[in-house]
Parts: sequence; C-alpha cells; structure tokens
Amino acid sequence: MSGIVVLGLQWGDEGKGKVSYILSRDADYVVRFQGGANAGHTVVLDDGRELRFNMLPAGSAAGAVPCIASGTVVDLDELEEEVNLLRSIGVYRNLLISKCANIVLPIHKSLDRALEEARGKRSVGTTGRGIGPAYSDKALRIGLRVEDVLDPEALSSRLEVLRSIHKVYGDVEGYILQKSSILRESVCDLELILNDVIDGGGKIVFEGAQGTLLDIDHGTYPYVTSSNTTIGAVSTSCGVSLRKISEIVGVMKAYTTRVGEGVFPTELKDQIGERLREVGGEYGTTTGRPRRVGWLDIPLLRYAVKINDVDWIALTKIDVLSGLDKIKICVEYEVEGSRIVLAPPRVSLLEKAKPVLIEVDGWTKLSRDEWRKISEKGVDALPENAIRYIEIVEELLGKPIKLISCGAEAGLVVWRT
Ligand code: IMO
Ligand code: MG
Repeated sequence: MSGIVVLGLQWGDEGKGKVSYILSRDADYVVRFQGGANAGHTVVLDDGRELRFNMLPAGSAAGAVPCIASGTVVDLDELEEEVNLLRSIGVYRNLLISKCANIVLPIHKSLDRALEEARGKRSVGTTGRGIGPAYSDKALRIGLRVEDVLDPEALSSRLEVLRSIHKVYGDVEGYILQKSSILRESVCDLELILNDVIDGGGKIVFEGAQGTLLDIDHGTYPYVTSSNTTIGAVSTSCGVSLRKISEIVGVMKAYTTRVGEGVFPTELKDQIGERLREVGGEYGTTTGRPRRVGWLDIPLLRYAVKINDVDWIALTKIDVLSGLDKIKICVEYEVEGSRIVLAPPRVSLLEKAKPVLIEVDGWTKLSRDEWRKISEKGVDALPENAIRYIEIVEELLGKPIKLISCGAEAGLVVWRT
C-alpha cells in the first residue's frame, strides 16, 4: 500500500513541484487535490527544459497518470495548455478528473479582481485566478461541476442559476462547450479508482498546492487561499481514507518567502533579503510578482510539522544560502515578554511576535557544476557548514531531512538516509 503526500510547510513556493516530480518517477498516479491555477509548480529537466504547471500535478511530467480530484477548482484554459505540454514532451497519459471537481468560470476571475479592489488596503494579494469566487460558489451549492458540463440539461439549469445570481452575460455556454472535449475523455469517479490503485499495491503521489500557512482554516486568515492545504484535504478531496496514506513529506525552503499580503515575522527588507530574492529567483511562477523574503521561521514550521504530522522533510534551495557569511534562524518568538517556541499562525499573535534569532556560519559560494558534483557524490560532499545547518534545522523541528535540493534541475538533489 503506497499513498505518498507532498505538502508545503510554509506560504507556498517551497519546491513541491520538483519533489513531487522526483517521487512520481516510480508512481502510477499523481493527484492534485486542492486549489486551482493559483499554483505554480516548476520542473526543470536535466537538459534544462523548464516545465511550468498551474493546474496539473507537476509529477505528471515524470510519466505518472495525472489526476484532478474533487476538491479542486479547475481552470479549463490551463488544463488544455498543460495537457498539450505533456503531449509535446511525450509523457502524456490520459488525464483522470473527478466528476465532482468544480469549474472556474470567466466570471470568477472578474469577481476575484473586483473583490480585491473592494478590499482596498486590506486586499489579500490573490493570484487573480478566480479561486475564492469559485470555491464560494461551491459552498453556496451553485457551482458548476465537471459532471454538469457533460449533461446538456444539467448545464443549462446550472447556468441559469449562475446567471441569475452573478448577472453573467456573454456566451458562457459557448466557452464551456469549446473547452469540454478534454473533460469528456477524462471524467470519472476518481475516488473509486484511487482506492483500487492503493488496495492493489500501486503507488500514488498526492501533490499539494500552496502551503500550510495559506490553509483557509489553519493559515494566517484572512491572508490565505480558499482551500485546505493541509493533510486532511487529501482524504476529503480524494475520498481516500487517511489510513491509506503511508508517507507524509513536508517540503520547506531553506529560508522563507511569501507572495501577497499578510503578516511575516521574519521578513527581511534589507540587502540580504534582496540578495536572496535575486539569487533564489523569487518571483512568482503564476503572476511574476516579487516574493517577500525572510529567514527561516521555526515557530511556524513547528506548527506545520505538528498539524500535518510529517514523516520527513525535503529541504529545498539550500544553494541559495551559499556565499553568506552568517545565516540567521528564528528559533522562538518573544510576545509581550513571553517566549513562544511553537506558534499557531494567528495574525493577532504574529503581529506582536519579535523573532529571536540565532546565527550560524555560512559556507562559500558554489557554482552549479560544483552542486552537480555534490549531488553525484552524495551527502558527505556537502560543505561542512551546510551539513551543520541541515542538522540544526532537523534538531529544531524534530524530524529527519531526507532530501536536499541544491538547484532547480531535477537531478540536483542529495538524499540522506
Ligand atoms: P504554489 O502551489 C504561493 C497566495 C496568493 C495570495 C493568497 C490567496 O505555487 O505554492 P488565491 O489566488 O489563492 O486566492 O490567493 O495565496 N498563493 C500562493 N502563494 N504559492 C502558491 O502556490 C500560491 N497560491 C496562492 O499570493 O497571497
Ligand atoms: Mg509556486
């Protein structure tokens, strides 16, 4: 039995796409279980080709069957483009999409922008992909599901309700029908298939989008996305019991980033922050926005590790820290005179939190070729202070770091056993 979950432990952009790709190489299926085209998952193949996924799981580039589960909101434009991308690299296997997944309509994107404008100074900084409005229509039980698209009667009655509520005019029906051929080939009762795969001894990778701190219940609400990004979402979205999950992998960057608004206790607004942004290429995959950058935040990571109960950690972008003389880690917060070692991500608490930082020694800058050699030779070839950094983080979080990513290409990784 093998169900492996890949989850982000920070505010997204942790490198889940690369980790999922690596773990999907020997998987039968790879599943996106929440979110929509707000995700930006990149896989860089060893020949340098860069593949970007917003809607499909990045693991499908490794040849596993791509699946989209019921808890997602599906962007039909992106879907089409990414299926074509997989075809162009010769790895496409027929997509499976749950009948119950909801569809993002053009009106959801307009509403997303209008809501952001209406919030003014309190805007969330969404990706503009229509995520919030699509999920709210689902919760209102007026959403359009994949199964409705394939049934002309259901489609027209659904659209009638949507039109009367959103006052949408324009040819929504035409848009849906034009995009529906991919759905026709892919629609299924996904939960039954996934259960059978696991029961039959197959391997499934569940690829999370966004990160723990963007979870609508457990994140920095209201500066969050509109879905659950944490472990329970796998089960509710896929209809697969948590008992069938054998491994939970938490992905975290060697520092912290956040894109969009909201509290960020370890944010760096100085030259070091700028340097990390430039060296790390910290610009959004989906929107191109510069990401905010800061030191590692252990109190929040402890929370993410706890609520997801991760088995092990994949640490990414360790290469970005090289060349720094000293590296800081926030190990605790000071809040109104008391120390907090594990912080629930409540905005009211985090706004008062003063990071307590420790300083560790850095290591010299290494070229891509040097990182490649290190990944060929294995963990002992890492700079001594990089190993020390990894061990300190491991100790602080109480979980093993088994995979270290040291560059964008899929081959630039070091496994630790
Ligand atoms: P991946 O999967 C980072 C952020 C947005 C915004 C908030 C709400 O690449 O890690 P939304 O469009 O979801 O309503 O925006 O969430 N956000 C992400 N930040 N990585 C992502 O995805 C994100 N998806 C949404 O910037 O602050
Ligand atoms: Mg991303």
